Amino acid sequence: MLKGKKILLGVTGSIAAFKAPALVRLFVKQGAEVKVLMTDEAKHFVSPLTLSTLSKNAVISTFVKTNEGVWNSHVELGLWADIFLIAPATANTIGKMAHGICDNILLATYLSAKCNVYVAPAMDADMFAHPSTQNNLQMLRDFGNIILPVGDGELASGLSGEGRMLEPEEILELLIHTTQATEKLKGKKVLVTAGPTHESIDPVRFIGNHSSGRMGFAIAEEFARHGAQVTLISGPTEMHQSNNIKRIDVTSAEEMYEKTVKQFDKTDIAVMSAAVADYAPEKVSITKIKKSGNELHLKLKKTKDILAELGRMKNKKQLLIGFALETDNEVENAVKKLNAKNLDFIVLNSLKSKGAGFAHQTNKITIIDKKGNKTDYKLKSKSEVAQDIVHKVISMMHA
Ligand code: CTP
Repeated sequence: MLKGKKILLGVTGSIAAFKAPALVRLFVKQGAEVKVLMTDEAKHFVSPLTLSTLSKNAVISTFVKTNEGVWNSHVELGLWADIFLIAPATANTIGKMAHGICDNILLATYLSAKCNVYVAPAMDADMFAHPSTQNNLQMLRDFGNIILPVGDGELASGLSGEGRMLEPEEILELLIHTTQATEKLKGKKVLVTAGPTHESIDPVRFIGNHSSGRMGFAIAEEFARHGAQVTLISGPTEMHQSNNIKRIDVTSAEEMYEKTVKQFDKTDIAVMSAAVADYAPEKVSITKIKKSGNELHLKLKKTKDILAELGRMKNKKQLLIGFALETDNEVENAVKKLNAKNLDFIVLNSLKSKGAGFAHQTNKITIIDKKGNKTDYKLKSKSEVAQDIVHKVISMMHA
């Protein structure tokens, strides 16, 4: 699976750097082309000569080739790579990656990279468990990077616990697994809606909801990481997307309907995660409504159901996924929506689950597909939930 792939290996200053030569050998044996970037600290643990000999390429660790008076282009390296693996990744490097610090060529290349970035953390158990490290890792996940698990066992400090870098064979296996999944979605056109809609009452007021857009953005990132061409139609949010995602901003349900319907015939997979207003003011006042009397009555009219419209337009090759947010008779209501809107599967969010829904970083979902299969997932971060949703899409594509 890795034959012909261009792998950039970033090595940072951890004792686990002694596993880097074994990684390079495994990649070369697979037929991959390997280039190695390393930090100065990493050179205490493994020699650049070993890594350049095994990779058959000069190891890069400085911005400038001083003898030749030319720079090492981190931009070119970032574009060259199909896969950028940082292994081992120290707490220091992870923290800098999360906060945009680029005081060495490895970090500058990270900021330039357009490919999938894999991070294999390696550190002592307490460093790994520290909220600061965990927050930084979560930020990297939210950027769309893939954080590999850590091993549990003996550590260089003499302590035992979670923080060991995975063994080279385990890293290889995970890379192959993800690359296979990536191949399946490469070039597929994916349409995602995200965030709330705002329905104007007058020039200064609107009806909205608490959706942050986080779930939809995480789904868009996950598809993009799998090589799909993603169009994200977003209501008003504070969220930012990677530059390989095409974003269309909308405000109202009507606008979201127009833009989404227009894109749909060019779409292979559509995931409608936006919290679209079901009703909007019948009339929008062109001037600010002045305060008068004790009551104000607003007449609302139903908005168009985007998902239901796509369900009507859908052809046999297209996959359509919807969300359901329910407070009671959850499964029954979700199944009704799945059938009524002609979906391939529906993602049910229960507001009864603690830590799930709009205002949280986490979510707890149940997926129900059109064949009646029902899977309950644990409470997870929204980026992990996005992975589960994309895996389900991949399994349905080849079902
Ligand atoms: N949806 C949509 N257009 C609307 C309303 C909802 O596309 N005007 C989509 C949402 O993006 C979501 C799904 O429909 O994928 C379910 O939304 P939800 O509000 O839970 O269900 P409704 O069908 O609106 O029904 P109800 O509010 O009565 O539960």
